[in-house]
Amino acid sequence: MIIQPRTRGFICLTSHPEGCAENVKKQIEYVKSKGQIVNGPKKVLVIGASTGFGLASRISAAFGSNAATIGVFFEKPGTEGRPGTAGWYNSAAFEEQAKNAGIYAKSINGDAFSDEIKKETIELIKKDLGQVDLVVYSLASPRRTHPKTGVAYASVLKPIGEPFTNKTVDFHTGVVSNISIDPVKEQSDIDNTIAVMGGEDWKFWIEDLKAAGVLADGAKTVAYSYIGPELTYPIYRNGTIGMAKNDLEATVPVINDLLKDLNGVSYVSVNKALVTQSSSAIPVVPLYISLLYKVMKEKNIHEGCVEQMQRLFADRLYGGNLALDTEGRIRVDDWEMREDVQSAVAKLWEEVTSENIEVISDLAGYRKDFFNLFGFEFDSVDYTLESDELTTVASLK
Ligand code: NAD
Ligand code: NA
Repeated sequence: MIIQPRTRGFICLTSHPEGCAENVKKQIEYVKSKGQIVNGPKKVLVIGASTGFGLASRISAAFGSNAATIGVFFEKPGTEGRPGTAGWYNSAAFEEQAKNAGIYAKSINGDAFSDEIKKETIELIKKDLGQVDLVVYSLASPRRTHPKTGVAYASVLKPIGEPFTNKTVDFHTGVVSNISIDPVKEQSDIDNTIAVMGGEDWKFWIEDLKAAGVLADGAKTVAYSYIGPELTYPIYRNGTIGMAKNDLEATVPVINDLLKDLNGVSYVSVNKALVTQSSSAIPVVPLYISLLYKVMKEKNIHEGCVEQMQRLFADRLYGGNLALDTEGRIRVDDWEMREDVQSAVAKLWEEVTSENIEVISDLAGYRKDFFNLFGFEFDSVDYTLESDELTTVASLK
């Protein structure tokens, strides 16, 4: 069938297989252009491997370090007449490219929060790789069913204490308006968000992997966090999601303890604000990203997910220069948070309106990135042609 984008708010309901393959190919080309990562990872488990930072991590490991990768994700294949999800097509394209390059890649599609998928993953590691030396934890989800209690938690994106009023943009129309978001009414909203996006599941993974003996001596694990500017603090870092990120970061010493006798170590990497399926759901943030893109592109320091993850691996995790902050975190948001970048964004934030947004922000770049996530708007893809919505992920057949 011929697949066109169909959007509902910040969600795109369709994905384009050939376009997603193009997205993956471009990321692979970038990683290869940067050369091999010296002493990089060799056997890698990526949890949340199909889109965003997780996919970029998988590509950086495989094509920057010849690493065998097992990717875990939650995606849908296409059915006759209905396209699958972008992460499905990304993973199909990744596996095909890895196979062509002689690099091991297998995938597991299912709920990473469950004990079953952890068990299945461990069995696959035992059978094919023996052990892994890097575990990337890159899940972003609005809900989690707790594997021990069966309780289903839903996260919320809300401020805590006071209502938050600020500018926001509808990135489809460019209309800038004021949005007021009421704070959480109950502590349970905070607790639920922590249960979904905090560190407990990362810890469960490492506990299970360790108990099964599938973590190599010196194994590393990394999870991703965000801080951002003060103007988004009420909705992000000081909001419900920020409490979950605090919890994730507080899990680092707990996991370090678990890894001690294996000479292993865990890190949180604070990454840059980027257009992904998850970040487009957060109010106010898309307007900030549009302005940030404008400023960072003008200064020639703009990065996408793959540039971020390639730099994380090559310079920080395997480059001998972790450059940890005072809280012990890796900071690849360092260029985003530069004083000259932030003061330029803050000035534009005051000025931006529906009338000037296309000029003073990079809303066009935001939109293009958004559609690219689903395989649309690549010049090299002919969207008038029939697509194969039944593309398969080879290892999942
Ligand atoms: P994303 O939505 O692109 O990726 C989420 C991944 O998780 C996908 O592979 C998806 O399949 C997988 N997933 C979701 N629920 C799952 C489940 N139940 N079982 C198995 N897989 C599941 O998100 P992203 O933006 O790449 O976020 C990844 C991490 O990076 C998150 O911790 C996020 O907070 C963090 N981060 C994001 C930004 C940003 O601006 N996007 C910035 C800094 C940090
Ligand atoms: Na991801």
